[in-house]
Amino acid sequence: MRITLSVIKADVGSIGGHTKPTDKMIDSAKKKITQAIKKGLLIDGLVTYTGDDICLIMSHKKGTDNKQIHLFAWDTFIGATKLADACGCYGAGQDLLVDAPSGNVRGAGPGVAEITFDFNRKEPRPAESFMVFAADKCGPGAYNLLLFLAFADPMYCAGLMLPKMIKGFRFEIIDMNNVKGGDHIITLDAPDHLYEIAMLLRDGERFGIKAIYSREYGEQAASLSTDRLHSIAGKYTGKDDPVALVRTQGIFPAPEELTSPFAKVPYVGGDARGSHNMPLMPVPINTPVTGMYCIPIVSALGFSLTPNGKFSEQYIDFFDNPAWDYVRLQAQKKAIEIRSQGWYGNAMLPYDELEYSGFKDTMKKLLKKFKVRKRA
Ligand code: 13P
Ligand code: MG
Ligand code: MG
Repeated sequence: MRITLSVIKADVGSIGGHTKPTDKMIDSAKKKITQAIKKGLLIDGLVTYTGDDICLIMSHKKGTDNKQIHLFAWDTFIGATKLADACGCYGAGQDLLVDAPSGNVRGAGPGVAEITFDFNRKEPRPAESFMVFAADKCGPGAYNLLLFLAFADPMYCAGLMLPKMIKGFRFEIIDMNNVKGGDHIITLDAPDHLYEIAMLLRDGERFGIKAIYSREYGEQAASLSTDRLHSIAGKYTGKDDPVALVRTQGIFPAPEELTSPFAKVPYVGGDARGSHNMPLMPVPINTPVTGMYCIPIVSALGFSLTPNGKFSEQYIDFFDNPAWDYVRLQAQKKAIEIRSQGWYGNAMLPYDELEYSGFKDTMKKLLKKFKVRKRA
């Protein structure tokens, strides 16, 4: 059968700052998922949160970009928004940027990652396993380095030397600053165009991985949310906080290969007021953001698909393991290090990327006060 995995996430309000949704908000989303499974819209579904973002992880037979699925997710977020509003939560409805989406929530605020594939339990996919990464307090290119290393560098993924992967992977990269007329996308193959890929991915504020495909089998390995909220809203409303859906094992990197680059805890744009650089810290699922200066966090869940397309009875939480405690400590050390220079230089994002328009307003006022002093 053809099966679609849809991961749709949004921040629709949180307790006492940009921390986590309330229990009632999560429970209401869970109820909606249960109803949708009963009605046959979904095969399965799971509700999680990473920081203040609610994530709906769903399997169904309706295909990618399906109106019913997207509107279901939108309604679920509207329900949670009402509860957030009722209890005075911060940023109720923050990521719902239009009154009503026309049928697809892409471009309306929520982040979307979807893959549709043949699920027949035969070679090259006798078993289907996948992972969902969700990051909070991050710019849209937060996975650029991490997935580049996992899919294109044998130092992190020795599996690339195996016959099933040795041809490498095809990267679809999107120019997120260019939204005129549709998505601006370039397709580049690794390893042939490794340096061109790196040239683009180094700038995670502008370019992001949109999808990755196996070159040997043509199968889609990964899908990532790449909408820039400020491009949709025309101003800063919240950080992009991307999700990534990645199929694993066999013809794709294994979870251990995929997660190994996360030990780097790279500096990413985002954090407090969406305007700083801080390291990305791996955390268990359902972790609130309460760390110093909104240290960015990322969760990683692993799933296996049952023969009828269900997955949520049991999942594995990769970063909920003492093995990652040392990495978390490294992230906090790097965080304290960069914060020690406060607002100076690389500790904050460059002027064009400063997210609160207020920072720019302050600057504009100052620029007006400059006076020209003639040189002698
Ligand atoms: P979120 O994008 O997670 O809502 O965070 C916004 C922010 O500005 C935190 O300081
Ligand atoms: Mg928020
Ligand atoms: Mg968030």
